[in-house]
Amino acid sequence: MAAAVGAGAIPRIKVAAICGSLREGSYNRGLIRSAIEISKSSIPGVEIELVEIAELPLLNTDLEGEGSFPPVVEAFRQKILEADSILFASPEYNYSVSAPLKNALDWASRPPNVWGDKAAAIISASGGSGGSRSQYHLRQIGVFLDLHFINKPEFFLNAFQPPAKFDKNSNLIDAQTRENLKQVLLSLQAFTLRLQGR
Ligand SMILES: Cc1cc2nc3c(=O)[nH]c(=O)nc-3n(C[C@H](O)[C@H](O)[C@H](O)COP(=O)(O)O)c2cc1C
Repeated sequence: MAAAVGAGAIPRIKVAAICGSLREGSYNRGLIRSAIEISKSSIPGVEIELVEIAELPLLNTDLEGEGSFPPVVEAFRQKILEADSILFASPEYNYSVSAPLKNALDWASRPPNVWGDKAAAIISASGGSGGSRSQYHLRQIGVFLDLHFINKPEFFLNAFQPPAKFDKNSNLIDAQTRENLKQVLLSLQAFTLRLQGR
């Protein structure tokens, strides 16, 4: 959770970044890499860590013990618990969130729900509408999880519309998109601090 700060210092927040796509060349993962870079270079106080979800088993409550979870699930839940806020990079799959992301959301929702009362933001690289439908489904899921999403700015990126937004390694190369991403991070930072009364 939030680190203590000295007088006059900028409050620090830890952001857990989660990518809903598991593929190596994922554009959404590229957005998170860019977000990490931006925060390091130009947003003092924001520390973003990519939290992997690929190794989580498919949700099955038979895998739970008396208030315990498989080690990989425990480790994931702990990362979420320790974060001040969440950055979701959510690709759109068939008008909704991806199955890996829903799986991760479900595991961390098991009692005690570790998403509760955290600030969150969503970014998407997808086809036509830039992932908007996945984002609105994620916002709906977040109601029950007690996540608090920033409303503005919204960030929808059509990854396939020229000019190219990513290089061949799926790194973000478009300056305007990078600036849009920075604005999301600044909004998430401000909202997280406001929510925590800091
Ligand atoms: C199963 C599947 C369903 C998809 N459905 C949609 C969709 O409904 N809307 C959309 O804009 N793109 C859709 N796409 C395209 C993905 O959003 C696009 O490939 C995106 O780049 C995936 O994210 P990634 O690059 O991070 O892997 C779909 C892709 C897959 C694999």
